[in-house]
Amino acid sequence: MTDFDTPQPNIARVYDFLLGGKDNYASDREVAARIEQALPAVHLGVRQQRAMLGRVVRYLVGEVGLRQLVDIGSGLPTADNVHQIAQRLEPDTQVVYVDNDPVVLAHARALLADSKETVVAAGDLRDPAAILADPLVSQHIDFEQPLGLLLCGILHYVLDEEEPARVVRQLVDGLPSGSYVFIHHLITPDESADEGTVAAEAALRQGVGRGQFRTLSQVAAFLDGLELVEPGVVTVSEWRPDEDTPSLTDNPVLRLAAVGVARKP
Ligand SMILES: C[S@@+](CC[C@H](N)C(=O)[O-])C[C@H]1O[C@@H](n2cnc3c(N)ncnc32)[C@H](O)[C@@H]1O
Repeated sequence: MTDFDTPQPNIARVYDFLLGGKDNYASDREVAARIEQALPAVHLGVRQQRAMLGRVVRYLVGEVGLRQLVDIGSGLPTADNVHQIAQRLEPDTQVVYVDNDPVVLAHARALLADSKETVVAAGDLRDPAAILADPLVSQHIDFEQPLGLLLCGILHYVLDEEEPARVVRQLVDGLPSGSYVFIHHLITPDESADEGTVAAEAALRQGVGRGQFRTLSQVAAFLDGLELVEPGVVTVSEWRPDEDTPSLTDNPVLRLAAVGVARKP
């Protein structure tokens, strides 16, 4: 059996389906249906995850002036991918996509076959040293110059026993001063987890084998030792919203993700 024959539901394809994409199978749609049942507004949540990623890329490239981005857990190509947003602002921005899913890698390589500025590397977030040492990454990224590290919608797939804090620390240790780290993470609201949150986490765990919501304070702790960019670690709606960013009050589903951007001193 090759990697492509597998009917197992998979994180990237479940997410693709929730985003309205077509690169998914019946097994992925079944998991998505269980998540939708638990959290009927989940589509708004995933669309806002993408919108948030876009705001951060615009901030890092357009405002901070970074010209290199490493996006770990990049996912299946969709509308407005990181390299497109970045290179619309600054065409020479170098982008490295890293994912551990062979289907994601195949799609991304096909999309980027002609691009000199954007490459795709196979890598597992749980082995940060291997990502930093990957020749494709080191050929494409100048580790003497600041870069943006994007961890969007991926750290909640690293279980406690896989030491997510160690993973982030090892990556940050490998970055030059002046680099930025962005985290988007699914959370259990600090007060108490409601039924929908618990059921959504269970649907992820059962469906794709992993998924660990954390509290906002636990997510903030991943950025300890770094300089938090205003407004700090907050929900998606609160991080430098655009005019059309939906409000938290009207959309409680948006309480379920925390985001933060921080600079390495
Ligand atoms: C929910 S998608 C997020 C895609 C994109 N970053 C976004 O936020 O729109 C999560 C991605 O992380 C990848 N992923 C999950 N665990 C990973 C790991 N340990 N190492 C590398 N990639 C991983 C999955 O294959 C998937 O493509």
